[in-house]
Amino acid sequence: MKTIELNHPLIEHKLAILRDKKTGTKEFRELISEIAMFLCYEAMKNAKLDDVEIETPLTKMKTKKLNEDRYAFVPILRAGTGMLDGVINVVPNAKIGHIGMYRNETTFEPVNYYFKVPKDIEKREVIILDPMLATGGSAVDAIELLKAKGVKKIKFLSIIGAPEGIQRVEKEHPDVQVYCAHIDEYLNETKYIVPGLGDAGDRIFGTK
Ligand code: PRP
Ligand code: URA
Repeated sequence: MKTIELNHPLIEHKLAILRDKKTGTKEFRELISEIAMFLCYEAMKNAKLDDVEIETPLTKMKTKKLNEDRYAFVPILRAGTGMLDGVINVVPNAKIGHIGMYRNETTFEPVNYYFKVPKDIEKREVIILDPMLATGGSAVDAIELLKAKGVKKIKFLSIIGAPEGIQRVEKEHPDVQVYCAHIDEYLNETKYIVPGLGDAGDRIFGTK
């Protein structure tokens, strides 16, 4: 599936502040969360709704509602947890799993150190959260771990994607729809996204 990029002046505006090295931790966190909410909004565009009957103060009516039990959000630690607030604002009753991964600093290969997901994960549509899709290694491994648990429908939300990583996920997991707030230019020699925003985890948690 071809990656969907959010093209919207508000997103461009928020990304400009997010990328700026002068932006501090508090504002950085708030922006990650807000942009994640917009990504989630886009990812839920074709969500199936159930028929329900409700009563307004004036009359009964037939309308539609989302069955939030059909969804699970799975942030990739650490940086993905920065997106969690934003998405649970939109789908507050979804279940949440966690995948712990970090990139080896010399090989740039992901190392998986934690995996905990809801028991009935195979019955849910899973929305993976990670602000940075760089080489695509973490995304591909996270998707494989979830597929091995029987998950059939997966979406991947990222704030910034690199063309290399996006192509890799599209090729290895063509059934997974990727959403990016912006697709950047390239990866540098240490596999950081350029122009990017630096190290997302360090900027969210203030660790550097
Ligand atoms: C970052 C980011 C992704 C990964 C992307 O995590 O949050 O998980 O790198 O890179 P890739 O596409 O090349 O795999 P990092 O390893 O910095 O861990 P952190 O979130 O704990 O800081
Ligand atoms: N991880 C980050 O946090 N930033 C990048 O640019 C690439 C990987």
